[in-house]
Amino acid sequence: MLLKLPDILTADELRAVRALLDAAAWDDGRSTAGEQAAAVKRNQQLPPQDEAARQARALVLRALDRSALLFSAALPRRVLPPMFNRYAGASNRYGDHVDQAIRQLGDGGERLRTDLSCTLFLSAPDDYDGGELVIREPGGEQRHKLPAGHLLLYPSTSVHRVEPVTRGARLAAVFWIESMVRSAEQRQLLFELDLNVVKLREQQGESDVAVGLTATYHNLLRMWATA
Ligand code: NI
Repeated sequence: MLLKLPDILTADELRAVRALLDAAAWDDGRSTAGEQAAAVKRNQQLPPQDEAARQARALVLRALDRSALLFSAALPRRVLPPMFNRYAGASNRYGDHVDQAIRQLGDGGERLRTDLSCTLFLSAPDDYDGGELVIREPGGEQRHKLPAGHLLLYPSTSVHRVEPVTRGARLAAVFWIESMVRSAEQRQLLFELDLNVVKLREQQGESDVAVGLTATYHNLLRMWATA
């Protein structure tokens, strides 16, 4: 499932994150990529221990927590803290790659399985040329360039790339989610059921049917989820 989530950041939060990033010292992005990805990765990243990265990360994580739609779609078990990247000048692209299946979560040796990849766009589309996130789908490629503050959620299993930025700079936060529900198919069913139960309540208020379907949702979640 691929999902666009608008306005994950408020205008104030976006301004605050941009102010932090615009003043930060950027590093070569290859340090955090696996072997295949490093060969095609040409961008810049904020070192995770950087103070600006720490503050921006906390701000983004708070914003993610507010999104009921993100929770319903992803059913997050664990979220890898966002990393910030910049595509501009000679470090302007990230060729076709698949994200590593397992990533280190902090320094404690704990690991996370990447089920869903997330890109939070932090630059307005008019501020740069190129820089589309291109995702290979069974039916062909899809190109994405979202407004600043919007998030794209997509399966970590997909091959994707970031096209060369030929003017301006493209800033984004990227992070990964390990879902409580490992199966994408089961996750999709739960998401659709949840959306429809919400719609049913909006249209008809509380009812026996709504309560019954809510019970079904939670019982499926109970059957499929690892909390
Ligand atoms: Ni990637």
